[in-house]
Amino acid sequence: MKLIAANWKMNMTPSQTREYVEKFLPLVEMVQDREVLLCPPFTSLCVAQELLRGSSVKLGAQNCYHEPKGAFTGEVSIDMLKELGVSYVIVGHSERRWLFGESDELINKKLTACLKAGMRPILCVGERLEEREAGLTLKVVETQIRLALSCLEEYTDSLDIAYEPVWAIGSGNPATPEDVQLVHAYIKDLLRDINAKHRGESRVLYGGSVNPTNAGDFLHMENVEGLLVGGASLNPETFSQIVKSY
Ligand code: PGA
Repeated sequence: MKLIAANWKMNMTPSQTREYVEKFLPLVEMVQDREVLLCPPFTSLCVAQELLRGSSVKLGAQNCYHEPKGAFTGEVSIDMLKELGVSYVIVGHSERRWLFGESDELINKKLTACLKAGMRPILCVGERLEEREAGLTLKVVETQIRLALSCLEEYTDSLDIAYEPVWAIGSGNPATPEDVQLVHAYIKDLLRDINAKHRGESRVLYGGSVNPTNAGDFLHMENVEGLLVGGASLNPETFSQIVKSY
């Protein structure tokens, strides 16, 4: 089933979350053929969990820490997320990589912790503009995925991957259909190369300036098995249109 995920980033207080979810749920009530995921900030997980109970909309977190507990001021563990009904965690978003200095090594540790705890990660990968212009897109994506999955080769079916070109995020300038097809097909081949027993159960999502006008086009593409939506997910009507686009 295709996965349509909302990444709210640092937006929405708990009371705004309540208002959003109350408007959003009736709008997507009839949707059965795709999985819908909301990833609010940590501070809104509790209220979101309460409101999503009994609905098929899933709850995700935007980040996590890999240690189970201890002296890690400001961090949030996977057990803490699990208790709030979180079933997905976004790992390695480009904002984490480039604004907060997350390395491939740290991303690998986070993936390891998620996968061993039975939490499904959405691993984000994507090239920066200068890398794209230098013709390095596939190389960058391959390196990010290989390093993220190092020593986790047998888990290729237990995560989803979001291809999010850094230059397309929040820019109003999405990747072209040709680029998306090419990179997604490459990622699928790469997973089979990493794990000879790969069963093809990990979805490859596209993210970067998705909106209600272009969402259907992306979802029709071969190898696009979902979307990770930032800005356009902040309004419940707009996001519901994306969820329902064909
Ligand atoms: P955008 O963000 O939809 O605002 O481009 C996507 C993302 O960062 O996940």
